[in-house]
Order: sequence, then structure tokens, then C-alpha cells
Amino acid sequence: MHSILHVIGARPHFMKLAPLYHAIQDDPDLTQIIAHTGQHYDHVLSGAFLSEFGLGVPDVNLGVGSDRHVPQMARIMSGLDAVLADRQPDIVFVYGDTNSTAAGAITAAKNHIPLAHVEAGLREFDKRIPEEINKLLTDAVTDLYFCPTGTAVRNLASQGLHKGVHQVGDTVIDWLWKTTREQDLGMMIERFEVEPGSYCVVTCHRASNTDHPAHLRAIWTALNQLDHPVIFPAHPRTRTVLERQGMLAEAAAHVRIIPPTGFWETQALLHHARAVLTDSGGIIKEAYFHQTPTVILDRQTEWIEIVEEGWAVIAGPDTSAILQGMRDLNVPDTHNSVLGGGGAARQIIEITKSYLNETP
Ligand code: UD1
Repeated sequence: MHSILHVIGARPHFMKLAPLYHAIQDDPDLTQIIAHTGQHYDHVLSGAFLSEFGLGVPDVNLGVGSDRHVPQMARIMSGLDAVLADRQPDIVFVYGDTNSTAAGAITAAKNHIPLAHVEAGLREFDKRIPEEINKLLTDAVTDLYFCPTGTAVRNLASQGLHKGVHQVGDTVIDWLWKTTREQDLGMMIERFEVEPGSYCVVTCHRASNTDHPAHLRAIWTALNQLDHPVIFPAHPRTRTVLERQGMLAEAAAHVRIIPPTGFWETQALLHHARAVLTDSGGIIKEAYFHQTPTVILDRQTEWIEIVEEGWAVIAGPDTSAILQGMRDLNVPDTHNSVLGGGGAARQIIEITKSYLNETP
């Protein structure tokens, strides 16, 4: 019997973990522990997702809360160090590219515990992006790299990382393949009072936009000029900046700022939207799954394959590029499911078991 300790803490982790968590529950050879760092503490960003994905109450909650990045990571590392000493897992799993991911990775490595990184190898090639630093730090100490795409595998190879690298697809896409048909996505958008195919969904929370009022202003100006209703579930930090800069008060009648939505409500909104405008890597790939074209509100993306297939265009925080992207909106004829066909979690478990059986 092998034990896995999952480090999670921020909204995108819950959906990445869900398919793995449920597959491990059914596996007689594995046990698992969830350690929540507490990076996200608002119910809408954390508790709601834990219950939506059937993840229960985490075994451990470090309760670190918000802070500048370095003290936040230091608190995660310090708390997790004690948890690892106490629980002695055979392997630690980290997800994505948040501060919780990198802090979890460093702590596992310092304790000589094997480390698996789900969503390894993604790069945006700009160290001013906090998530890019987290990706680089995490992959530097990972033992098992679970890559969602061929680009991710090539990024690791270009850094000389070949051992333990596996292209398995994306676990969020697993979850969507497995569960979308059970959901009534049409009914879920009723409360938004929008016509399917007629509205745009916007999300924006990257520091490169929220920490630069001029960038947020450029995006905001574009949204206020769109010809379609805009539904904008705003991350708490984005709402704070919009308020502080006086932008909320200037919203055009067709722009609706709402609190963050749950996972399935988000999927329903993406599924029926005419277009998505976002700076979130997670939303870009989910919109791709739903075959909804996307305008990226960031200057680069890690999801190169989606841009190459024509499902997303990069506009950045630039009013005229965003409006041009919307005018040129393209629904490609082909969709090659570049993020995998739904078998990522199963592959990750099989590879992990062989690795643990072979590791003395
Ligand atoms: C983090 C991740 C990002 C991920 C995002 C998903 C890092 C560096 N970034 O960004 O990759 O896409 O989560 O949401 O780890 N806040 C709240 N309530 C909360 C959590 C945060 O209001 O529950 C506000 C606070 O004002 C806080 C700010 O958001 O200071 C930043 O929170 P933080 O967790 O550091 O980063 P996110 O912007 O959420």
C-alpha cells in the first residue's frame, strides 16, 4: 500500500485533483491525504469547490491566507514541513503553477520525498509572471512530470529534463469528458437571463492585468464597447481594483459583474457563450473543450496548441486588439482534442504505482 499526499490551495487545484482523487479512492493499492494550504479561503474560491467535486474536508488545512508571495510561500513550506514529517507519504503531488504548488514542491524535495507535478512543463517565458517562477521552481525538483501537451514535453526537453516525463493529457479535461453529459448546462444559465450563443464571458485576475491599472482600463474599455451582453464573474482581487479605480461605476448597461461562479455554472456559461475573453489558462482550455472561441487578455499563453488550431487569439491588455479579435472571431472547422481524450488520471495512477514499486 502506497500513500499519496496532495498539496492543494487555490481554485484551479480542485478541478485538477478531482478525477485523480476519485480514481485513487477506488484503488486498493493506494491511500491519500489532502493538505490544503489555505491560500484561498473565501468560500466561493475554495469550500464551494471542495464540495462540488466531492473532495470532502481536507485532512489538513494550513490556513496561510493572503500575503505577499514570499511570506505566503514561507508559511506554506513551514506548515507543510511538519505535515510531511508527521504523515510520511510515499509521494507528494502538486498541481499547476500557484504559490502553493511551488512551496509544496520545494518542501517535498527538501524532505527527500518523491514529487509528482500534474500539469508539468508549461511555460510562458516571462519571469515577471509569478506563475512562471512557480512553474520553473516546481519542475526543477520534480521526479514524475505529468504533461498535458506535446509542447510541455518539448519545453522540459529544452531544459534537459527527459527522465520521468510523461504526456498524459489534462485531468480537468478528464473530468469534463466524464461528467458533462450528466449536467443540464442549458438549465444552469437560466439565472443569468441570456440567450445561448448571444453573450460573452469574461474572466480576468492575472497580476499582469490587475496590478497595472492601465492594463485593466484597456480591457475594461473594450468590454464596454462590445455589441453583446457581457457576463464577468470577477475574482475578489479584480473586483477590488475595479472598485478602487472607479471603473465599476462606469460599467455600460450590457456589462454585468457577478461574484465568482461555481465550476458547473462556469462550464455552462462557457458552453453557451458566443465568445470567451480571459487571462486564465484554465478557462482557455475549458472554453476549448466546449468549442467556444477565445480572445486571450494576456500577451502570451502556455496553450500554444489551442492558438495554433485557431480556437484562441492572443490580444493582450490592448483595447483595439481585443475589439479586432472579437470582430475576426473564428469558429474553426476542426477540433483535435489536443488536451487528451479523458484518460489522464488513469495513466497518472498507473505510472505512479510502477514508479513507487520500483523505487526502493
Ligand atoms: C492564484 C494563483 C493563480 C490562479 C488563481 C486562481 C498564484 C501566484 N496565483 O491567484 O495562478 O490562477 O489563484 O484563482 O498562486 N483573495 C481573496 N480571497 C481568497 C483568496 C485571495 O479575496 O480566498 C484575494 C486577496 O486580496 C489576495 C489576492 O486575492 O491578496 C491574491 O490572492 P492569491 O491567492 O495570492 O492569488 P490569486 O490572485 O488568487
